[in-house]
Amino acid sequence: MNGKQRAAKEALKYIREGMVVGLGTGSTSECFIHLLAGEVKAGRFSNLRCVATSVQSENLARELGLTVISLHECGVVDLTIDGADEIDPRVHLIKGLGGALVREKIVEQNSRRFICIADSSKLVQRLGTKCPLPVEVLPFAHQVHENFFHSLGGTPRLRTREDGSPYVTDNGNYIYQLTFPRGIASPADLDRKLRSRAGIVGTGLFLSLADTALIGSDDEETVKVIRHRLSAS
Ligand code: 5RP
Repeated sequence: MNGKQRAAKEALKYIREGMVVGLGTGSTSECFIHLLAGEVKAGRFSNLRCVATSVQSENLARELGLTVISLHECGVVDLTIDGADEIDPRVHLIKGLGGALVREKIVEQNSRRFICIADSSKLVQRLGTKCPLPVEVLPFAHQVHENFFHSLGGTPRLRTREDGSPYVTDNGNYIYQLTFPRGIASPADLDRKLRSRAGIVGTGLFLSLADTALIGSDDEETVKVIRHRLSAS
């Protein structure tokens, strides 16, 4: 078992019967979806319903026999389990390298609880030091955002598919990935500035959304639990 699988297995301990469970996107979330479906098939967690954060996760969950409902049907999700690209010591996150950042944020903002699962490679002291920040934009005149991204200290790159065409999200939008040479000094400030710009749909900064991170070790049979600390600056 690797770190992602260990974290996913640990997350099962937080699931109760009758819950509405939010399903994240990405390889760690896929481990969790497989494990959850195995438990449901074995007769545990009766009346469990799921809300997916991407078409990919929804398809996987349905294939494995989980009941998937839409977010508006339930209004509020009891608990969402999702991965992350970076996790800082206060459990502020960068998410979205899987391209599902906006749906993930909608589901997580409408969850009573969001627990992040990852292996230890995702831990950072400062956000933006290991991976770029994904930002979803409307396709309309998307190039005009590039100067704005530079003015905020980020170097933008439009995410593309293998054939060079823009990667398109489940929402029909594009994604810019912003690199910050020394990481992101003030994530809350950056997030506010990005979100104030027309045409920018959402950012991969998930600040004060997850209350707990479960970090699975690749080398030992341990899962570290990190609790959220207040202040998003
Ligand atoms: C998808 C995400 C994923 O949770 C994130 O990219 C982590 O992926 P993985 O579990 O494959 O490392 O935010 O939009």
